[in-house]
Amino acid sequence: MAEEIPRAVAGPVVEEGSVRKGINAPYFAPGGYEKFARVLEAESREVAAHRDQIVEAIGLRQGMVVADIGAGTGLFTTEIARRVGNQGAVFAVDIVPAFLDRVRERVEAEELSNVTVVLGGERATGLKDASVDLAFMCNTYHHLEYPRTYMDSLFRTLRPGATLVLIDLERIEGKTSDAMFQHVRADKQTVIVEVRRAGFVLESETDLLEENYYLRFVRP
Ligand SMILES: C[S@@+](CC[C@H](N)C(=O)[O-])C[C@H]1O[C@@H](n2cnc3c(N)ncnc32)[C@H](O)[C@@H]1O
Repeated sequence: MAEEIPRAVAGPVVEEGSVRKGINAPYFAPGGYEKFARVLEAESREVAAHRDQIVEAIGLRQGMVVADIGAGTGLFTTEIARRVGNQGAVFAVDIVPAFLDRVRERVEAEELSNVTVVLGGERATGLKDASVDLAFMCNTYHHLEYPRTYMDSLFRTLRPGATLVLIDLERIEGKTSDAMFQHVRADKQTVIVEVRRAGFVLESETDLLEENYYLRFVRP
């Protein structure tokens, strides 16, 4: 779709500083888990209301290994797990232990045996190199404090030819609410540049949502 940026242009990554200090602090604050679990699962949230269409559009196949990066409460994890089946696997990765407890509860309640919950890092997925066929990131990118370092790690986590599906909130002056404009660090074009800089190639965009964009990248 867009012209490829050679990895060499990005130069070596040396001690990236936080681009959004404290963006995840509310999740760790007292009462934070309860408050945000409700927000994340509310039907008024566009991606929650469109959960089934979003998962359908991923193009999952039985046997795939998927990383749900920033899984939150597992809104998408269990449906993804059902679609990849018992020959496949899902890693539900997050940095907030309380969210991962909620994912475990869901997985048990839905009697799924192909989900592994992973406490990841701020700068790295915590998954083995070349171990994943598809990474799914919904509303996680704007929560990355160290996006450049993290996306380098995610690039290594994916197998050559693997897919990255990235959904995030639009940030459009005059259209996005003031609160969201403040909360979301970068607009779609900036995110595309940043993700391509990590080596991913933009493949397509799915026109499904209004408040969010839905991008598909390939890890060459
Ligand atoms: C807005 S929530 C989205 C949760 C879920 N994907 C959804 O759409 O319901 C952002 C999530 O990203 C997680 N997160 C932030 N930084 C992360 C990192 N470096 N690695 C993994 N998860 C991260 C947060 O803990 C939070 O669960």
